[in-house]
Amino acid sequence: MSQDRRIETKPSHTAKIVCYMRALAYKEVGEPIANDYLAHHFLSPPLRARIESAENRAQILASEVPAANYAYLTARTRHLDQLFQQALTDGTEQIVLLGAGYDSRSYRFTNVPNGFRIFEVDAPTTQAAKRRYLQNANIEAPPHLTYIPIDFNLNRLEDVLPLAGFAPNKQTLFIWEGVTYYIEAYAVDGTLAFIRDNSTAGSKVTFDYITDRIVFGDYSDYGAQEAATAVADAQEPFIFGLPEGSVAEFLASRGYELTQHFTPEEFHAAYLDARFGRIYGFFQNAVAQVQ
Ligand SMILES: C[S@@+](CC[C@H](N)C(=O)[O-])C[C@H]1O[C@@H](n2cnc3c(N)ncnc32)[C@H](O)[C@@H]1O
Repeated sequence: MSQDRRIETKPSHTAKIVCYMRALAYKEVGEPIANDYLAHHFLSPPLRARIESAENRAQILASEVPAANYAYLTARTRHLDQLFQQALTDGTEQIVLLGAGYDSRSYRFTNVPNGFRIFEVDAPTTQAAKRRYLQNANIEAPPHLTYIPIDFNLNRLEDVLPLAGFAPNKQTLFIWEGVTYYIEAYAVDGTLAFIRDNSTAGSKVTFDYITDRIVFGDYSDYGAQEAATAVADAQEPFIFGLPEGSVAEFLASRGYELTQHFTPEEFHAAYLDARFGRIYGFFQNAVAQVQ
């Protein structure tokens, strides 16, 4: 690879940003929009203390974090909270979180049916950091959760998931949140092929992606330049995207049917309210079903 990738040696910085936004949103607007009451455990003690004050949060939101990112990540968390909860009651038998970061859903949603399994797959560096934070907060992993360390660019899901108890003959929800744009095209394809070949028909994958012009240096979408610079500075640059309007065809040619899709504007309308400003203009969200 031409660019250094932080996640080979250090915990993901972008995962930390997502978690910071979740903790902020929970303190600032709370339920029903922002429900991640565990996100603050993954922050440093000074940051955790700072966001307790409404005055500090007002300052942070006014001038320290991009409002469009705060809005986007709050909407995405709510959307995927809903899909996760739905999977616990609709006959789904296992959930795989691909690039789980500081996702706390395995801990927050406890109405897990008997025999249900949850697998968190992530870079070893990020996963180890997450587990340390949870240990420090005396939060124990639930019995239905299995952690699986992997580098998507170097390891194959088929080499690790079945060994960890993942069952290909079960209805599965794969949550691939905040990941596709950081990995190589072959790794995106490899993941979609793995899911298609190792899940029963009707299993789902939900993911977000970026319009590919940003990867090629066209920053005409709202907030694109700011976001591309921030992720590149964090050594987790945007390297994969899809041409606008191509996702249904992209998925169909890989054995999937697109069942739900949100443009940024649709995402704002579905999950946020007037307290949130304009959302980043280049993140799209898709839900697809294995054919
Ligand atoms: C922006 S974070 C999203 C984390 C989480 N899904 C969320 O939304 O809170 C990106 C995640 O992808 C993981 N990741 C990025 N590149 C990866 C790779 N090559 N192999 C494994 N994980 C990777 C990082 O460790 C990080 O947890």
